[in-house]
Amino acid sequence: KKVALLYGGKSVEHDISIRSAKNIFDAVDKEKYQVYCIGISKTGGWYLTDKVINNITQGVPLSLQLNNGKMSFSTAEGQNLLFDVAFPALHGTDGEDGNIQGMLEVTGTAYAGSDVMGSSIAMNKFFTKQILEKQGIPVCKYLYFTYQDDPEFEFITDKLGLPFIIKPINLGSSVGVSKVKSKADFKTALKEAFKYDNEIIAEEFVSARELECSVLVENNEIKASVPGEIVVDKEYEFYTFQAKYVDSKAAKLEIPASVPENIENTIKNLSINAFKAVGCQGFARVDVFYQEDQGMCYINEINTIPGFTNSSMFPMMWKHDGYTFSSLIDTIITEAIY
Ligand code: DAL
Ligand code: MG
Repeated sequence: KKVALLYGGKSVEHDISIRSAKNIFDAVDKEKYQVYCIGISKTGGWYLTDKVINNITQGVPLSLQLNNGKMSFSTAEGQNLLFDVAFPALHGTDGEDGNIQGMLEVTGTAYAGSDVMGSSIAMNKFFTKQILEKQGIPVCKYLYFTYQDDPEFEFITDKLGLPFIIKPINLGSSVGVSKVKSKADFKTALKEAFKYDNEIIAEEFVSARELECSVLVENNEIKASVPGEIVVDKEYEFYTFQAKYVDSKAAKLEIPASVPENIENTIKNLSINAFKAVGCQGFARVDVFYQEDQGMCYINEINTIPGFTNSSMFPMMWKHDGYTFSSLIDTIITEAIY
């Protein structure tokens, strides 16, 4: 079987995608699958590369072809590439939000992970919360604003208290996210978030432990992994981009998370229910807040293409449950093809 490993992309998570794709490429069983690495540059050009590389434009430029409605790529030398399945190792805009999934749908290409609807809902933090709420899945309090709404500090503190969080609704890796502790912070936070998106949400800051749980579909069965915990160094206000990917000492990852058995079960059930409510397929990572003193768990968000980097929780949680990186990737690809 021929696998197209798509990586890079126009999103602000371009570099994270490259780190994820390198690990995925290494983990694919090369006897079983023929892998073609297809890098998407920051400006949207598509290139064939012999492995996952940082400088995508050094690859061979590709043009998209349709043969009887089925997608293939061709090089200037006339090489024509057809695939059985695509693995979008892409994060965020155009990769995780349903856009590329739509292109793969209309060009008859099987692909790993969630379809257009699951991807686009999960990418949108506002719609995700609305759907989860409707299903009775706990989410923390939030407010939605567009740039034109020109949100007011007092209106938000009145509803959510202080501190609160400001997030662009369509991004990942904590890009554009700020914790607001004062009116001065608020101005900076709005400017930062609106740099990336015309829509934002303000979220109540819950003082809680940050847990994550991974979901995987295997033989049509939806499974939840053991929950893991992220213990962020006190120097950081929350699990920021810096703490996730730059400062390797900023966060301690604890797998399994040390929580009572009933909480572990609650987290697993909520994660599977959230996955289903949003209409996800294949795999995802669900981020959870656990408020220990209240015994409450809130679903924060669903990542339909979670990171596969060396500091990413998704592969680590499955490793604890007995999946090597290779068996995890194999499960995801198998599920996508059949
Ligand atoms: N958005 C990043 C890649 C994650 O959720 O892991
Ligand atoms: Mg995310």
